[in-house]
Amino acid sequence: MLASRVASQAEEHAHYGGVVPELASRRHVEALPLLIEQAFAAAGVGWEEIDAVAATAAPGLVGALLVGVTTAKTLALLHHKTFLGVHHLEGHLCSAQLENPLPPGPFLVLLVSGGHTMLVRVDGPGRYRQLASSVDDAAGEAFDKVARLLGLGYPGGPAIQAVASRGDPQRFSFPRGRLRRPGGGFDPYGFSFSGLKTAVLRQVQALEGEGPLPLADLAASFEAVVVEVLAQRSCRCAADQGLDTLVVVGGVAANLRLRGELDRRCRDQGLRLLVAPLEYCGDNAAMIGVAACERLVAGAASGLELGVSSRLSLEHAELLYGAEAPF
Ligand code: KG4
Ligand code: ZN
Repeated sequence: MLASRVASQAEEHAHYGGVVPELASRRHVEALPLLIEQAFAAAGVGWEEIDAVAATAAPGLVGALLVGVTTAKTLALLHHKTFLGVHHLEGHLCSAQLENPLPPGPFLVLLVSGGHTMLVRVDGPGRYRQLASSVDDAAGEAFDKVARLLGLGYPGGPAIQAVASRGDPQRFSFPRGRLRRPGGGFDPYGFSFSGLKTAVLRQVQALEGEGPLPLADLAASFEAVVVEVLAQRSCRCAADQGLDTLVVVGGVAANLRLRGELDRRCRDQGLRLLVAPLEYCGDNAAMIGVAACERLVAGAASGLELGVSSRLSLEHAELLYGAEAPF
């Protein structure tokens, strides 16, 4: 990697307690020209050394995706380069490679972000099988919603982590969101976080009128449950699948308690643990670049007629490089 720049809008969206899509698109339009210029300057390369231009095409907020994809296509067309529309989650997966090369597969991926909580089996480049996901809120979304209800600000993950570090994770007992199977028993890996969020809300309501809220204990107890659920189900899934490597990526992978717990469990279980470098857990362009490189060397290219989409499963990421644009 020669250069990596992130133009964060988090401070602005914090006023609204979450991402405002229209605002996000407009800020992308404003930020991109200078950002691209800065990245070129930092990398010390010119267009003659560039093979391709990539941008995230799906899934995500369509307005923001459109800005990136239109910019990338325009630059590719102008400079006669290949254009690649990248799958956002394939980008997250590739973020782990910014530190160590990923094994060829098979391995298990825990992908935890603001929009997704998934366990994915990877059997080789581009060969993905989703084994579990959240039936309601994503893990990052739960952090954001609980932070908002505790008045801790946005984004919620870092805010909860900071406050939780001073709290007692055993003080409150919150539900672990186990999913009942229609035929009886529980789904061993499925995730659900909306009940947990409601339980925190009920606890806050129960504590009202009893003086200042024990924010640190509430945050720590909430964080401990999310961490335990993610770590326990991932390790169990890896064992059941006979996989010896667990890769952990996405914004929530930056959580220090989660990193510690995974480290402990994987060591006990003899699992190899590869976690994305801290600075590349949250959304960034470097991970999209790595995913694009992987596809490019495999001969892939996206058509300039490719659009953007709010939804596209990781299992169908290769559609972005097909002869017919999927959207
Ligand atoms: O991957 P990401 O940057 O964007 C999406 O693709 O969604 O993930 C953002 C999410 C947010 O929900 C944020 O609260 C969460 O990652 N997050 C964290 C931490 N840092 C970011 N959650 C828990 N602990 C953290 N330290
Ligand atoms: Zn993301």
